[in-house]
Amino acid sequence: MICDPDETTRDSYDRLAAEYTRRIAGELAGKPFDRDLLDAFAASTIKLGPVYDLGCGPGHVAAYLHERGVEVTGIDLSSAMVDQARALRPGLRFRQGSMTDLDERACLGGIVAFYSVIHIGRDRQTAMFARWRDALVPGGWLLVSFHVGERDRHLNDLWGIPVDVDFLFFTPEEIESRLVAAGLTVVERYERPPYAGIEADTRRCYLLARNDEGNDEATHPGS
Ligand SMILES: C[S@@+](CC[C@H](N)C(=O)[O-])C[C@H]1O[C@@H](n2cnc3c(N)ncnc32)[C@H](O)[C@@H]1O
Repeated sequence: MICDPDETTRDSYDRLAAEYTRRIAGELAGKPFDRDLLDAFAASTIKLGPVYDLGCGPGHVAAYLHERGVEVTGIDLSSAMVDQARALRPGLRFRQGSMTDLDERACLGGIVAFYSVIHIGRDRQTAMFARWRDALVPGGWLLVSFHVGERDRHLNDLWGIPVDVDFLFFTPEEIESRLVAAGLTVVERYERPPYAGIEADTRRCYLLARNDEGNDEATHPGS
C-alpha cells in the first residue's frame, strides 16, 4: 500500500476550510508589509508570465495579485478550500492539486506560497523547490513565507475543530539553503514580528528567490 504523506493535512483543511475562510480571507487589509511585498512581486512577474499561488487557501493572495493585473491560478490540496476560494472569487481560477507535483512545463513568471510549505516535510522540500525552479521561466520569481522557529507543532484541534496536522517551523537559513540546493538564487530575505490581533503569535520570514538558469539579465546580490 502506498502511503500518502499529505492525506491527514488534506482532511484537516477540508474540515477547517469554512472557519479558516471566515477568519483569514480578509486579513491582507491589516497587513501592509505583505501588501507591499505582493505589489513588488506583481510588478516583477506581470511581464514574465502567469503566476501560481500554491497552497492558496481561500484565495486572498491570488485575488490581491489578480487585482494588480497578474494572471493567477490558485492551487490547494484541500478541495473544500478550493470550493471556498471559488465561492468568494468567482472570476478567478482555482484548482485542487498538490504543490509537490507541479508541472515543470508550466512556464510561470512567478510562484507565491504563503504559509503552505509549513506542511511539507523537510526531506521533500529540496526536490519540490527544484520542480518549482523548472516550472519558472528564466528570471521568474518565487516568494515564499513561513513561521520562524526551531520547534514544530502538531495540532489535534484548531478553533474547536478536530484536526491531525503538523505545522513546521523553520529557520530562514534552512529554507534558504534548500532553495539554493534546488538551483534558485535567493535575492531578498525579510523577517518581521506578527501583527498583533490579526495573526498567530509567531515570527514570520519571507524569501524572494529567482530562477537564474538561462537568465542573461540576472543581477546577483552584491553585484
Ligand atoms: C496555513 S494555510 C495558508 C493558506 C494561504 N496561503 C494563506 O496565506 O492564508 C496552508 C494551506 O496549504 C494547503 N496545503 C497543504 N499542503 C499542500 C500541498 N501539498 N499542496 C497544496 N496545498 C497544500 C492547505 O490545504 C492550506 O490551505
